[in-house]
Amino acid sequence: MKVIGALVAALARGRGGVLVIEGPPGIGKSRLLTEVMALADKGGVRTLFGEAFEYQRTVPFFSLFMATLRADPPVGDAEALRRLGGSADLRYWVVRDLADAIRTAAAQTPLVIVLEDIHWADTGTLLALRSLAVRPDTPVLWVLTARTGAGGPAVRETLGVLQRKDASFLRLNALTQTAVADIVLDAVRARPDASLLTLADKAHGNPFLLMELLGGLHEDGRLDVSGGRAAATGSALPCRLAAGMQHRLGGLSDAASQVVQVAAVLPDRFSAGLVAAMLERQPASLMAAVQEAMRADLLVEDDDQLRFRHDLLRQATRQALPGSLRRAMERQSVTIMLKLGAAPAEVATQLARTAEVGDLAAIAALRQAAQSVGHSDASAAADFSRRALELMSPEDTERGALVAETMVLLNRATRYEEAQQLAASTLSAEVSQEEEAEVRLRVWAANEAPQRRIEENRRALELAAVSDVIRARHQAWMTFFQVTNGLHGEERTEINNAVRAAEATGDLESRILCGTTLALLDFADGFAARAIDRMHDVDAMTRNGEPTMAHVVAAIHAAGFTVFVGALDDAAAEVASGAAQARREQNAMGIPSWALLGAMVEVAWGRQSAARRIIEGVPREQWGASTEVSMNRTLILAEVAAHTDDRSLLQQLVIEAQDAYPGGSPLVSQGAAYVIGLAAWHHGDIHEAVRWLSRDSAPVLTPLWANVFDQLILTARVASAAGDAGLRARVLQGLEVLERERPALPLFTAVAQRTRGLLERDADGLVAAADALRSWRPLLHAGAAEDAGVEFARRARNADALAQLNVAFDLYMEHEAVADARRVGRALRGLGAERRIVSQSRAKTGWGSLTDSELTVVNLIARGATNRDVATQLHLSLHTVKTHVHNAFAKLGINSRAQLTRLMHGSD
Ligand SMILES: Nc1ncnc2c1ncn2[C@@H]1O[C@H](COP(=O)(O)OP(=O)(O)O)[C@@H](O)[C@H]1O
Ligand SMILES: [Mg+2]
Repeated sequence: MKVIGALVAALARGRGGVLVIEGPPGIGKSRLLTEVMALADKGGVRTLFGEAFEYQRTVPFFSLFMATLRADPPVGDAEALRRLGGSADLRYWVVRDLADAIRTAAAQTPLVIVLEDIHWADTGTLLALRSLAVRPDTPVLWVLTARTGAGGPAVRETLGVLQRKDASFLRLNALTQTAVADIVLDAVRARPDASLLTLADKAHGNPFLLMELLGGLHEDGRLDVSGGRAAATGSALPCRLAAGMQHRLGGLSDAASQVVQVAAVLPDRFSAGLVAAMLERQPASLMAAVQEAMRADLLVEDDDQLRFRHDLLRQATRQALPGSLRRAMERQSVTIMLKLGAAPAEVATQLARTAEVGDLAAIAALRQAAQSVGHSDASAAADFSRRALELMSPEDTERGALVAETMVLLNRATRYEEAQQLAASTLSAEVSQEEEAEVRLRVWAANEAPQRRIEENRRALELAAVSDVIRARHQAWMTFFQVTNGLHGEERTEINNAVRAAEATGDLESRILCGTTLALLDFADGFAARAIDRMHDVDAMTRNGEPTMAHVVAAIHAAGFTVFVGALDDAAAEVASGAAQARREQNAMGIPSWALLGAMVEVAWGRQSAARRIIEGVPREQWGASTEVSMNRTLILAEVAAHTDDRSLLQQLVIEAQDAYPGGSPLVSQGAAYVIGLAAWHHGDIHEAVRWLSRDSAPVLTPLWANVFDQLILTARVASAAGDAGLRARVLQGLEVLERERPALPLFTAVAQRTRGLLERDADGLVAAADALRSWRPLLHAGAAEDAGVEFARRARNADALAQLNVAFDLYMEHEAVADARRVGRALRGLGAERRIVSQSRAKTGWGSLTDSELTVVNLIARGATNRDVATQLHLSLHTVKTHVHNAFAKLGINSRAQLTRLMHGSD
């Protein structure tokens, strides 16, 4: 009471907080809440009350809505929020709107928001609590009760978050003996003697049991109260505790006993009408029976509904029913509730528990429930879907479709392994070819290597008895994966076939995918405007039909094109909405891709640490192993690391790239080679840079690499520094593509001009390119100015050189490109100008502490070169190589090559 009093007093002074009351059932949590509400009332504070029920766990925001929307006057616009019920954006908007409504209401009168039994709360409420309940500057006190140890991971996670954010926790323990004596005194209105207290001890300090014990003694006529003293006769427990619920029900009339038993299979709170419907009686005829059950301390009234006086009584009654009867009754209650208008999600828990194999109505309701909660809780939806699958008989023709639905939900909930296992077990049984094809269509997880996905498509396409639509989808996904991973051949027969199949069937998913694939190919051929036009058509298609992964994929690539052609404001808006949707739907399949695009926009704006933050905001395991998406992550981070001079990050990425080379697809290999080449260039090792950059022949212009322009320019720079004809030819090829479309896109023209200026050492051309790039990309602008400056300096046009180099220096510094600024600083110093860089001192240990030479040597050694090999390759003396190795090992805290390999390839 002291803790509560202090919190309520603070609330009256405008300070909010969180109080969690924890304890086992019957310990007095709800009783304590009554005191909280009484105190709040006295303090002129308004109380909102919400409660969670075991059976309503899947109804989004059940308890929170009860507390807010059912309040009088309501907090929040019930109509508007309920309308959101069907929308995919549910969770995000609900939380936002409720936060506003609560803040407004609290500004008028401070609020206590009480939520009972949150161990049964739905995930919507739990998630909302994590963000709503931790705002001490709003005068809202959240008081939650929770049963110790009950509830799933979401409950524990929420309590953990609250604990970290300074919520107060009250853990209720057994009553002391004095407290027990006080309660007995209160209850029997007489001083208990030793016989009664000894019996009371058997309640082990649990007030619920204590009250049951006293009620039972009274019921059995074993309480003697006379002369202000109370004694008990006998030392046995009263019947209601000793003999259990069966016996207790036996003491009731048949009608009352029936009512109580039926009540035990209904939701926690139920109407008399529902009981009547279960018993096929008129509600009025049950009046006497209900009153009897209330007199027997079993049921109580709650608003205009009924409930058990305590959940422990409900549980005991349920256990007293034979299992099969209980299941049958519960299943019947679901039918009646659905008939009375309950939503599938409200009865899904009961259904999942009670239905038997072949129960078609249950399967249909569970599938519907899965679809409706899928937008806010993919994991709960996957559970319903799995349950529906268990209930479906093996012969059911819908089976393949349901397996596919379930896998999509499992994948979205990042339960990849379960999805794989489900696929494997389905395919190992006797299934029709159509079913097999459906399963193979949905099995792919976001983190899986592209070849495996393509393999699934191929195998499905080998099956003969597959419907046209499923076949078309396989063709469409297969070509999409091929193109996004550079696995398609020169001739485009497969793609053309896929397009034809999509058109012939008119299947939306296939058409969206084919449209996207064709746009990617257009772009890679240099026809960016045409690609964007195509995506407009695709976009129009995506407005129809149930959203599928194809919709997400199309939106991602459309936004990608927008970034590439430099329409950054539009792109930022598309990315923001796409990313928000993926987060709201917890669609793990989309989250990394949207993060990439967000980072690309930031990089294009020259905001390096913002880009890095976005990427690092997505946990490593969500990126997958060796896909175009994970390689893009590496590429963006590598550019950021190179510019910001984060040597330790760059080295980490080189290690990842080495592990990914050769990769699962030509494109991934090319990306990996680029990262290694980029790092080599930055360490001043031109030969190594040439080697890696010319290793693969993937096209230079692709809408699939986040940093295509940087790749083209670096390749040109290395080609011209090394005088390498092969690399130069590749760059020219890229330029040809870049300049192919008419009218040309201004950004493409500017990049082409910049690249050509570099190859041709054309200082004036570079100045023009710098001007042209000014409005597009600050770092490309800076790079062009730098190259122009260097070129001018070479021709002793010092004034021009200084002007350009100063522009470059300022831009680099403005955009966190310390490494580049330092390089330009050296060039300026050569011309007698001094520009300062305030930089942190280098680390003393770890990757970041290695010098360029040490890094170069270590990377070669890790790939198996001997000291002598390294010496030959780098034109160094053996002694120098040994010194580098010695110093590098010391800084890395290792002393052998074996340890180096382990360190780099992560076996520890
Ligand atoms: N401190 C107390 N003094 C007297 N009775 C209590 C006390 N705490 C709880 N009770 C009684 O014990 C029973 C169980 O308490 P309840 O608050 O419902 O437990 P919980 O919510 O923890 O399951 C109720 O009948 C309640 O009135
Ligand atoms: Mg309670």
